[in-house]
Amino acid sequence: AAAGRKGQDLTGLRVVVSAGGTREPLDPVRYLGNRSSGKQGYALAQAAADRGADVTLVSSSSLPVPAGVTLVPVETALELQAAVTDAVRGADVVVMAAAVADFRPAAYADHKIKKSHEAAADGSADESAPVVTLVRNPDILAGLVQARGSATTPVIVGFAAETGDGEASVLEHGRAKLARKDCDLLVVNEVGVGVTFGQDDNTVHILERGTDHVTDIGPATKLEVAHAVWDAVTDLL
Ligand code: CTP
Ligand code: CA
Repeated sequence: AAAGRKGQDLTGLRVVVSAGGTREPLDPVRYLGNRSSGKQGYALAQAAADRGADVTLVSSSSLPVPAGVTLVPVETALELQAAVTDAVRGADVVVMAAAVADFRPAAYADHKIKKSHEAAADGSADESAPVVTLVRNPDILAGLVQARGSATTPVIVGFAAETGDGEASVLEHGRAKLARKDCDLLVVNEVGVGVTFGQDDNTVHILERGTDHVTDIGPATKLEVAHAVWDAVTDLL
């Protein structure tokens, strides 16, 4: 129903959506990952395509690609950064719904890491556990915000999955993150164990840079949330 009501109001727009969690490899068979299913990002891509946009979806997820959407498959944060940076040239909107790993293993072993190794001198096995050293991944959203204002000026939408804690509410964390990130819209997602990740329903607050305005959505399906995000984007265009 939501899609029908909106008509084709995104016709002529080129939009880029990133979705899913990144996978940061340790060796050829193992990676560090997260619980993001990619469903919200895919719903954003589908809603935009249904409303007439030209949609590029940069994703690590294996969900079915919505009709009319161009998929650029990626695995790691660095691949996602390269693909988004490329796709955003000439785009009108970029939505960073991907759960980008903040860190990746510092080293990649090009062979499978074995449980035990032969210790050199006496031939006995080394039964110690390896220590995984991490390095920071680039902040892709921050890079998009930094590059804003040159050749093209896409509307930049960030996502933030937050839980309330002893220090601040979900909304306060969201406001602080928007101030740090300086994107145009921040979609703040309430999360917890068993809540949101992999589920079909979502409760979000859409915050707008430079204003106190908050749009509360949900609990709603991820497709309904997606349409609400595009409504907020069209208000800015
Ligand atoms: N993001 C990104 N690149 C990263 C990490 C995050 O582009 N390396 C984007 C996400 O796609 C999302 C937004 O930044 O749109 C917020 O991600 P989040 O993980 O909530 O923010 P962080 O700055 O990483 O803060 P923290 O994880 O410490 O809460
Ligand atoms: Ca993060």
